[in-house]
Amino acid sequence: MSLKVLGISTSPRREGNSDLLLRRALAGAQEAGAGIEYLRLCDYRIEGCSECYSCSANGDCPTQDDYPPILDRMLAADRIILATPVFFMTVCAQAKLLIDRGQCLWVRQAVLHKPLFEPKRDRRGLLLAVGGSRSRQQFDCVRQPVQSCFQYLEVDYLGSLCINQVDEKGAILKRPDALDEAFRLGRLLAGADTPLPKKPIRVEMF
Ligand SMILES: Cc1cc2nc3c(=O)[nH]c(=O)nc-3n(C[C@H](O)[C@H](O)[C@H](O)COP(=O)(O)O)c2cc1C
Repeated sequence: MSLKVLGISTSPRREGNSDLLLRRALAGAQEAGAGIEYLRLCDYRIEGCSECYSCSANGDCPTQDDYPPILDRMLAADRIILATPVFFMTVCAQAKLLIDRGQCLWVRQAVLHKPLFEPKRDRRGLLLAVGGSRSRQQFDCVRQPVQSCFQYLEVDYLGSLCINQVDEKGAILKRPDALDEAFRLGRLLAGADTPLPKKPIRVEMF
């Protein structure tokens, strides 16, 4: 059975740069034989974590919004690609809402010691990030929350592709090097028998 790769586009800009990069990565995954699924976060309503701590009892979040079906899709996937623009040195707000709502999963893992999957599944994740500026440090603040998110989702972090100096809508299309790299990483991510590299892949293009 083919692997399921879920691409999550978090940018509020429809067909923006990170979205286009994600689509190339998904095309690479598809070429590797994976079944691909695309989710645009802005089509859903996700509230922030209300910090009510109800989840401390059982790992369940009581907030009623579109998060539960999105979580189901994230849990069903074998591979996750999360694409975000850099907004004020970190992930965009939409991505952060998604990440924060996973507090209930963090509680399951770190407090209740209830793994999501038994036996452990081979799940892997890739981060794609696009920024307009020349700043090199900003990508650390993008990688860290996404790595935390992959950790509580029990997704091994394959690595990241971070592109700078891409600003106006569609500017990524003038960066074939970046698009080719997204395709390559998407294909690599979807390789069922590829061993996970010892160190996460870290590609930065300026
Ligand atoms: C609210 C906002 C904040 C931004 N902050 C940054 C930033 O801190 N660093 C950066 O490199 N680019 C920043 N940008 C530029 C975007 O990252 C850039 O335009 C990117 O290509 C947008 O990707 P998208 O089309 O996928 O949304 C910002 C843009 C907006 C709208």
